[in-house]
Amino acid sequence: MNQDRLYADAQEIVTDFVFDERVASVFPDMINRSVPGYGTIINMIGTLAAQRVKPGSCCYDLGCSLGAATLAIRSAAKDDDFLIVAVDNSPAMLTGAREYLADKGQGPPVELICADIRDIRIRQASMVTLNFTLQFVPAADRSPLLQGIYEGMLPDGLLLLSEKIALPDELTQQLFTEMHHGFKKARGYSELEISRKRSALEDVLIPETLSCHTQRLHKVGFTTIEVWFQCFNFVSLLAIK
Ligand SMILES: C[S@@+](CC[C@H](N)C(=O)[O-])C[C@H]1O[C@@H](n2cnc3c(N)ncnc32)[C@H](O)[C@@H]1O
Repeated sequence: MNQDRLYADAQEIVTDFVFDERVASVFPDMINRSVPGYGTIINMIGTLAAQRVKPGSCCYDLGCSLGAATLAIRSAAKDDDFLIVAVDNSPAMLTGAREYLADKGQGPPVELICADIRDIRIRQASMVTLNFTLQFVPAADRSPLLQGIYEGMLPDGLLLLSEKIALPDELTQQLFTEMHHGFKKARGYSELEISRKRSALEDVLIPETLSCHTQRLHKVGFTTIEVWFQCFNFVSLLAIK
């Protein structure tokens, strides 16, 4: 696994964060050292898929990056009788995902699509994963995207939505931000790297509050909505049609 040193060089100008070749080449290290609980969430996506994905249906991994969730779903599958559709609009990520998945055994078929998830028609879905992807979609497009997902889901279908959230209270926001920075420092990132990455993400990753997410999911039509994981300002929700 290549180590993420992308923001270690103080000389380089900080530009907006993009999922390009440089990010793709260090992504597993970057996300594991930046998102508390990422490994647990990936494992649980596999566990959930094994329970919820129906024969003959589709299971979507939207914003699949290098395919970690796709691989968890494929590895945990009891049968090969469903299709995994993994979508990302970063060519570098999709190239990496193709290599990563080719390396790692058998299971249900995987269709890898290089496209914007806002342009994908969801069909026959018994499970959809948005694992830290929605936060990168422009805020105005989030409701239409979720509506399309809801419409394309089978009854009882499951949406897994993981996001970095904003806290409504300023003091709690500050506390959770400090805890998150502590998590990153403990994993070897310097103050400089943390603050440079934060600037790069500022206009790109737009977090919303938990109530904003749950209200929107209700409005779209989902009935059961529960937080099943939270560590600091990182949450993962289940929403059932
Ligand atoms: C934080 S990563 C997701 C991590 C991944 N789901 C995992 O579990 O490892 C966000 C991904 O979403 C992709 N992405 C962001 N906006 C997108 C869009 N509108 N359409 C397709 N992919 C998008 C990025 O290219 C990136 O690979």
